[in-house]
Amino acid sequence: MRLLHVDRTEPVPTARFEDSAPLLSIDAAAFRENFNRRPFLIGHRLTSHPLFELPRLLELARTLPEANVEYNAGDIPVSLRPELTPRTGLSVEETVRRIEDCKSWMVLKYVEHDPEYRDLLHRCLAEIRVHSEPLVPGMMQAQGFIFLSSPQSVTPFHIDPEHNFLLQIRGTKRIHQFDARDRSIVTEEQLERFYEGAHRNLPFDEAWRSKAWVFDLQPGQGLHFPVTAPHFVENGPGVSVSFSVTFRTPDLEYRGLVYNVNSWLRRRGWRPTPVGVSPWRDRLKCFGYRLCRRLQRLLRRKPR
Ligand SMILES: [Fe+2]
Repeated sequence: MRLLHVDRTEPVPTARFEDSAPLLSIDAAAFRENFNRRPFLIGHRLTSHPLFELPRLLELARTLPEANVEYNAGDIPVSLRPELTPRTGLSVEETVRRIEDCKSWMVLKYVEHDPEYRDLLHRCLAEIRVHSEPLVPGMMQAQGFIFLSSPQSVTPFHIDPEHNFLLQIRGTKRIHQFDARDRSIVTEEQLERFYEGAHRNLPFDEAWRSKAWVFDLQPGQGLHFPVTAPHFVENGPGVSVSFSVTFRTPDLEYRGLVYNVNSWLRRRGWRPTPVGVSPWRDRLKCFGYRLCRRLQRLLRRKPR
């Protein structure tokens, strides 16, 4: 199995196609008001882009490291424990070729490893950065994901760690998205486990459906997902292709560290203050975590 190296500090380069027309249409006021708080729609003109044709996606799936291609059955429930995810028995190639009727869900991860997809990703992010930088500076770790799924397939209820814009290329998707700040849906303990490496899927209670923002995403539309905003996705009646444009910012690394410290405290019987409630406690936890890591590294160093 080939493994992928991800440079977490690599800055996102500026766009290389400044002379061409914008790919995205973003309402500056909606971005300012909602970014990383609530979902909002943007527009894009990638629906006929050749990089999203099935033969090109098949070529991409063949050339990406094996670990970056994840696929499974798509006729699954919204609430699904990851270890119970059913397989289809098909190969990657068969899945792409038979996507219309094989009831499958597939994601191609970190597509920036292919130079053509990397250029496209960076170009989209350059347009987003104009709006994101005044709010959360330091765009980094540009990552792209392409979702290919059969009619009516389901992506179970889960959370993701990045700033995300999901661009719908082909087919339609009904997306249920929930408030990332609602701790009656995702608890602090679940977030602590997530930041320690637990799987993204979470249990879903049908009683929560009425709390969702619901979007019927059409080709040419894109939807913003705040960091760890829980969501599930139901495909429409056709094959769906979506391009997920993601990035991170330094404040997310800080947030993750505080969740790590809270998890450590909770395992030792404490009831830590939830992340974000007390900025000075968060700063202290982050400082303590980094200090401990530095001391550990110093102690591990062999004397000369
Ligand atoms: Fe997601």
